[in-house]
Amino acid sequence: MTTIAVLPGDGIGPEIAAPAVQVLGELLGSQVEFTEFVFGGASIDAHGTALTDETLAGCRAADAVLLAAVGGPKWDTTDPNAPRPEQGLLGIRKELGLFANIRPVRPIPALYSASALKPEIIEGTNLVVVRELTGGIYFGEKTRTATSASDLCSYTTDEVDRIARVAFELAGRRSGKLASVDKANVLETSRQWRQVVHEVAADYPAVELEDVLVDNCAMQLISRPSSFDVIVTENLFGDILSDEAAMLTGSIGMLPSASLGTPGTPGLFEPVHGSAPDIAGQGIANPLAMFLSAAMLLRDGLGRPVEAAALESAVDAALADGLRTADLGGSATTAEAVTDVLGRLH
Ligand code: IPM
Ligand code: MG
Repeated sequence: MTTIAVLPGDGIGPEIAAPAVQVLGELLGSQVEFTEFVFGGASIDAHGTALTDETLAGCRAADAVLLAAVGGPKWDTTDPNAPRPEQGLLGIRKELGLFANIRPVRPIPALYSASALKPEIIEGTNLVVVRELTGGIYFGEKTRTATSASDLCSYTTDEVDRIARVAFELAGRRSGKLASVDKANVLETSRQWRQVVHEVAADYPAVELEDVLVDNCAMQLISRPSSFDVIVTENLFGDILSDEAAMLTGSIGMLPSASLGTPGTPGLFEPVHGSAPDIAGQGIANPLAMFLSAAMLLRDGLGRPVEAAALESAVDAALADGLRTADLGGSATTAEAVTDVLGRLH
């Protein structure tokens, strides 16, 4: 029996988690069991912490984790001691050792016109951001006094080495091009990152490696996105660049992600978008990034490439036939989008 831990979280989270469970149930039938756990702001309200031991243990015991989104204005505070929903997300990534965050960006031709960029710029774009997820400034020591604050950014060579290998392997299976993004003209962590990535490159002679400074990468993602294949970068840069890259697809409501650790650890699959508190409860959230995350769960989490492809094709076909939720400039509701995709699964 395959077990999938489901963390609906906050805001639109429950509205998109339920249909994703429905879709996975449709594809996997009785071979799968879902266990739902409270997480994020909902968990703060119920238990005073964003990630309880019970939720963590449930995720550890599962074959894969499907997460929707966390956060919202209710828990937004500048008080350094107050619990935050995001701590749940960072905590689960760290506890499960999910150091490799894979964010594919593949604009669908049917949506070219939904992008803020001209179709001729987006055309042919098919890239993957490989973001280091458990190190760097997100996890360094934090200090705060009345008049100053600091966040430490540190990386070990082992942390850089293992994420670089994930990226080289992926680039080797794709077009063989890897852009390593850093800020080596300023940051010591970046200079060591660059050195380690070049050492790892010796093991992957077939992959063409290019160093790109993060500010320049931000620019090129807009000016010539189709020139990228695999981008590997540290935690903070990857967070920012993946949101930027998401917009190439027309909406951040389209982007899935996989967070993977060492073999044997359950992977965590979640859309790149957040909990969208402004539209929560209205039944208009776009469930497609969640569906595409479920597809990544099938392929990378459970080794079910056939079912993954079926789900991705259903999403593509629905879009090609005109399915548009509000974020894509249309008026389809979440329920209509779900019915549309479900109806194409067989
Ligand atoms: C993401 C999110 C998170 C991150 C936040 C919610 C902590 O923006 O998954 O990209 O920055 O990692
Ligand atoms: Mg982000």
